[in-house]
Amino acid sequence: MVLGVIILVIAAFYAYMVFETTWLKIERLDFSRKGKGLRIMHLSDLHINMTRISAERIKKAVKAEKPDLILITGDYINKPVHASEFLRYLRTFTRGCRTIMCLGNHEYKAFRSNKEGLQNFIREIEALGVEVLINRTVVVEKDGQKYNIIGFDDLRRGSPDIEKAMEGCIPNAPKISITHNPDLVLSIPGKIVDYMFAGHFHGGQIWMPFNLEFMILRDDQLCRMGITRGLKRVNGIRVYLNRGLGNGVVPLRFLSRPEILICTIP
Ligand SMILES: [Fe+2]
Repeated sequence: MVLGVIILVIAAFYAYMVFETTWLKIERLDFSRKGKGLRIMHLSDLHINMTRISAERIKKAVKAEKPDLILITGDYINKPVHASEFLRYLRTFTRGCRTIMCLGNHEYKAFRSNKEGLQNFIREIEALGVEVLINRTVVVEKDGQKYNIIGFDDLRRGSPDIEKAMEGCIPNAPKISITHNPDLVLSIPGKIVDYMFAGHFHGGQIWMPFNLEFMILRDDQLCRMGITRGLKRVNGIRVYLNRGLGNGVVPLRFLSRPEILICTIP
């Protein structure tokens, strides 16, 4: 009897964690306070081989939210063989909306020493009209207002170069940065960028008491400081840690729903 109840509880808990990976949440932030400005859709950690959020659902969200710009902050594939599925996924929801992304540690891991393979993957993404920023800035314009979009390379597996990345910045325009691992903010001299959009932590993915999921699985600095998800201010920079859409290690989530962020920047 007791064993039966334990098995039932475990099965229910497992079923809930599977369900949560499908339970998409739209988070909202409005720095303009009036809804006016650059409307950004921020996605992260798509983990194409381990997601239960379809490209069709993202396409629907794009249609409903009408962002001016989609920013995506890394972790797309685990192996080169996942590349074609990812490209199909990306094409589904980026058509007709300017999209800018950076790479995550998983892209570097997938191609390891195969630099040529990684370059081909980037070329294939860019052939869809999506811009990949590796230590580079592009300028985006909305209603006569310009915005710098700065892409920093991944902290752990890439080679982030803050100075080089910001060479293309224009003055008197907000500096909006994207990177995969938010720990990079600790290496940026205070306030030289205004915003940073990042991912990597999956919000913990499977929540455990006492921050155990971070103590056991991660050695990143921000989690040690208790900074694991959502909007925070570090070094005078507004940093957003997106919980991501896909999953790492196991396709389960607990108290860390997959998210799409809609954010307006004045
Ligand atoms: Fe990830």
